[in-house]
Formats: sequence, structure tokens, C-alpha cells
Amino acid sequence: MVVKWNDKYMLGIDEIDKQHKHLFEIASEVGGLTKDIGNSIDCYDEYMVILKELIEYTIYHFDYEEKVMKANNYNEDDFIVHQFEHKMFVKKLEKFAEEDFDENQYENINNMLEFLVNWITHHILETDIKYCGVIK
Ligand SMILES: [Fe+2]
Repeated sequence: MVVKWNDKYMLGIDEIDKQHKHLFEIASEVGGLTKDIGNSIDCYDEYMVILKELIEYTIYHFDYEEKVMKANNYNEDDFIVHQFEHKMFVKKLEKFAEEDFDENQYENINNMLEFLVNWITHHILETDIKYCGVIK
């Protein structure tokens, strides 16, 4: 699966756009692994390293967004919903990291990647976009 940033995901908030782009960069590293696996190279260890990096950066990014929302007096109810989405996503990533999948690496990594890209793009376009008017 090819992962590519698209400018339609831009929110017009420089630091947040930069962080979202970096999430895509990490996702595309995961995508790069599927090429090796296609050539029967074992990528389990590399995958775990990238997944760990992804989880750490995601937590950093969500924390940043939540701080910025708070600092700009973002609507409390919307904040709670937003924060809940963040929490669920991190939980899901941690679950991927716990899964033992030495078998079917190609399929498993592709499934994870599909979930990842789907979630990020929907989250940016449907949830993050709501704070655009409040944060500049
Ligand atoms: Fe968010």
C-alpha cells in the first residue's frame, strides 16, 4: 500500500500540518516494509521499531493538539469527544504492537496500514477540522 500526503489534509495551522505530515512519513515507512516482505524478507523487528516510533510520536502529537485546544478555550464537549478519539486510537495502535504476527506479515502490516491511513485522514478531515476556526 502506498501512503502519500495530500495537501487536502492541510488545516492551515503550520505546526499541526507539520506534525500530520510527519505521521504520514512514519506511515509510509511502514508501507515501505511491505515491499521487503513481498520479497520474503522478515520485517518483524523493523516493524516493531517503526510501530513504537509511531506510537510515541502520535502521543506527542495528540498531547500537543489537546494543549493547543485547551489554550484556545476550545468548546469543552467537543474537546472531550476529540480527546476520546485520540485515546481510542492510541489503544488500537498499542494493540497492534502487542499482536504476535510472525505469520502473515504482509497481510497484517497491510491491514494495520489501511486502518492507520483511514483513521488519520478521517480524523483530520472530520474532527481536527472543527478546531480550525478556533485555533490559528
Ligand atoms: Fe486530533
